[in-house]
Amino acid sequence: MDNSLEQKIEQSAQILVNSRFAVALSGAGMSAESGIPTFRGNEGLWKEFSAKELATPEAFLKNSKLVWQWYNMRKEKISKAKPNAGHYALAKIQEIIPLHLITQNVDNLHNDAGSKNTIEIHGNIFLARCLQCGHVSELKSYDNDEPLCPVCFEGKLRPHIVWFGEQLDQKNLQRVFTWLDSCDTMLVIGTSSQVYPAAGFASDVQANGGTVIEINPQPAAQAHITLNGTSGEILPPLLKAIERNKNSLEHN
Ligand code: OAD
Repeated sequence: MDNSLEQKIEQSAQILVNSRFAVALSGAGMSAESGIPTFRGNEGLWKEFSAKELATPEAFLKNSKLVWQWYNMRKEKISKAKPNAGHYALAKIQEIIPLHLITQNVDNLHNDAGSKNTIEIHGNIFLARCLQCGHVSELKSYDNDEPLCPVCFEGKLRPHIVWFGEQLDQKNLQRVFTWLDSCDTMLVIGTSSQVYPAAGFASDVQANGGTVIEINPQPAAQAHITLNGTSGEILPPLLKAIERNKNSLEHN
């Protein structure tokens, strides 16, 4: 690791340790080192598949079997994936400083790594919602392309995912905005910052006077500090630097 990156990690650790209320925003890049493809870029899912045909309410109305087949295929891959070094380091950082987590990821890997205080703004691939009674249930299997609600036994289930053209869950969004209002430091990790409203969160924090730190091998956000590298490379040394700074604060 070059000197200037080490210095920037140290500087970020100091800011985070002194922060009153920090928020991390993660995107698909966070799970890339767990073998889960991102959406954009050359290897991205949206290069091979059509978001319009697979991730919109209209697509589900037109061909729910096809949509379920695609989500089942992704769910099968995701259920075999494990959190990577970045997920584990982030969960440990949350044990040391007040760091809240907003994720656009639906893969549950932050929870698997032990992260607490997480808002999954785009839903969770292991959950399904009844179109009739609205009940949200866990659906771990990935072989059923016509699942029915286990509570009302009548309604069709759909993936509990926020699709293109849909609003985020209002309760989640309210919690997010409460966090952003209090946030003095935001860590933006592995997102192309192209999908709103999440793409606007870092500017909201900056407009309130907060500091934005980005972790990404191809930085995309407006950040005060850019840590150029993957989340699996950057978060473990950031954790170490946070531990060091926290210890020295406590001994002074
Ligand atoms: P994208 O695929 O748009 O962006 C992934 C980002 O991760 C890019 O900026 C990459 O440079 C970066 N990246 C790649 N590998 C990385 C690594 N190992 N460590 C850190 N960063 C890495 O994914 P999102 O920004 O999450 O929505 O996409 C936002 C939303 O668009 C998704 O939640 C999804 C998608 O359509 C829904 O499905 C509703």
